[in-house]
Amino acid sequence: MVLPQDFKDKMKNLLKDEFDDFLKGYDKDNFYSLRINTLKANVQDVLEKNIFDFSPVKWCPTGYYYPVNQRPGRHSYHHAGVFYIQEASAMAVVECADIQQGDKVLDLCAAPGGKSTQIAAKLGGTGLQISNEIVPNRAKILSQNIERMGVKNAIVTNESPEKLEKVFPAFFDKIIVDAPCSGEGMFRKDPAVVNEWSLSQVEVCANRQGHILESAHKMLAENGIMVYSTCTFSPEENEIAVQKFIEKHPEYILIKPDVHKFFSAGIPQWADSNNADLCKTMRLFPHKIDGEGHFIAVLKKTVGESCRVKSAKSTADKKLLQPYFDFEKKFLKDISFSNFTLFGENLYAMPEGTPDLSKVKVLRCGLHIGEIKKNRFEPSHSLAMALCKNNVKQFISYPCDSDEMLDYLKGETLNTADDLKGWCLVCTDGYSVGWAKVSDGIAKNHYPKGLRISMA
Ligand SMILES: C[S@@+](CC[C@H](N)C(=O)[O-])C[C@H]1O[C@@H](n2cnc3c(N)ncnc32)[C@H](O)[C@@H]1O
Repeated sequence: MVLPQDFKDKMKNLLKDEFDDFLKGYDKDNFYSLRINTLKANVQDVLEKNIFDFSPVKWCPTGYYYPVNQRPGRHSYHHAGVFYIQEASAMAVVECADIQQGDKVLDLCAAPGGKSTQIAAKLGGTGLQISNEIVPNRAKILSQNIERMGVKNAIVTNESPEKLEKVFPAFFDKIIVDAPCSGEGMFRKDPAVVNEWSLSQVEVCANRQGHILESAHKMLAENGIMVYSTCTFSPEENEIAVQKFIEKHPEYILIKPDVHKFFSAGIPQWADSNNADLCKTMRLFPHKIDGEGHFIAVLKKTVGESCRVKSAKSTADKKLLQPYFDFEKKFLKDISFSNFTLFGENLYAMPEGTPDLSKVKVLRCGLHIGEIKKNRFEPSHSLAMALCKNNVKQFISYPCDSDEMLDYLKGETLNTADDLKGWCLVCTDGYSVGWAKVSDGIAKNHYPKGLRISMA
């Protein structure tokens, strides 16, 4: 791998004797990993199915490596949101956030959604999650991943941090700032990143990170925890960024999370600082661990405010919702939704405590339940993904390696038992993957066209 000379010179100067080992890290094979989604599946159940040769990621109880020749992205479980393919080091970030059920959590730089879907699994459907992404196309991908993983209580927004800070002053218990960075830690995995790198790019990123951290600070409540992470090695974007932030905001303390033991300590000297607390930050070096290059700092705000923001009112007129209630009665069981809101024909169940979002660009305002068209209700794909087979009166489950499952994912019509009629949840080994509408033994396929697999 050809590394930029400026980068090598800088790392040699920082790492000194360790530089040769660091370089050898570039010769290591790539690691492939995924995280099992506990919103959809029990980890032990998935392991017992023996579909892949998993070995555990030490710092993430739901993370597993798999061999290069196995392709979980093509498996029906991927379509069912049973797992999310995520780089192993990246899994450490949310593990540091001490997320508790009921927390209000902001993922400020969230696309494509690795950390957001991990937060959602930790919240387990409780609390309120806002997943924000500034780039519109990336925000759409984020929203699709939130849908695939069956997340019910996340709001996806497409805003700048500066805009959000005005809407959510001192609001969140936990904030993840997985900052846009110069990406030095990704050179191994994605050599294309090398071409975008320069010393001046590092400075641009450090400057932007300072602004993002300021916005995050304004949105964090008293006693709140902020996890700052990058996938780069440059001290300007790591120890120096954290030190500058703490100097400006002495009410923050650095926390040493449990997973610290798996990684190297941050290096105060690289920030030209004698703040020994910087050792509580973490450096993830590929020559030392089975994962790519990252940096993580966990900051607690010890003094501040905690603001309540007025909750948005449910805007949906009960009469308009009748077609949904008819659907619910006929096809769902042991589950009900509340806090309904209608955007045109689109019906959402907003998470409890959702603030007024009228000044924010929202892509997904909680769980998209479906569309109410005149007097007809059509359930959404998001609803299918968020339900389990025990939540519906009718389901069809195909084995993951069956021709029927493959045909369903290709969008084909299927034959079913004669006693089924109307909306059926389609599952793979019991994990929901989409809808079919059955009539006279024929299941019309409602797997979204954009997600269907093509055999070409
Ligand atoms: C490292 S990536 C986030 C990865 C994500 N957290 C995950 O786990 O999948 C950083 C994200 O920050 C976004 N970003 C770029 N400029 C930004 C800015 N000025 N403020 C906030 N986010 C920004 C990028 O579009 C990118 O999606």
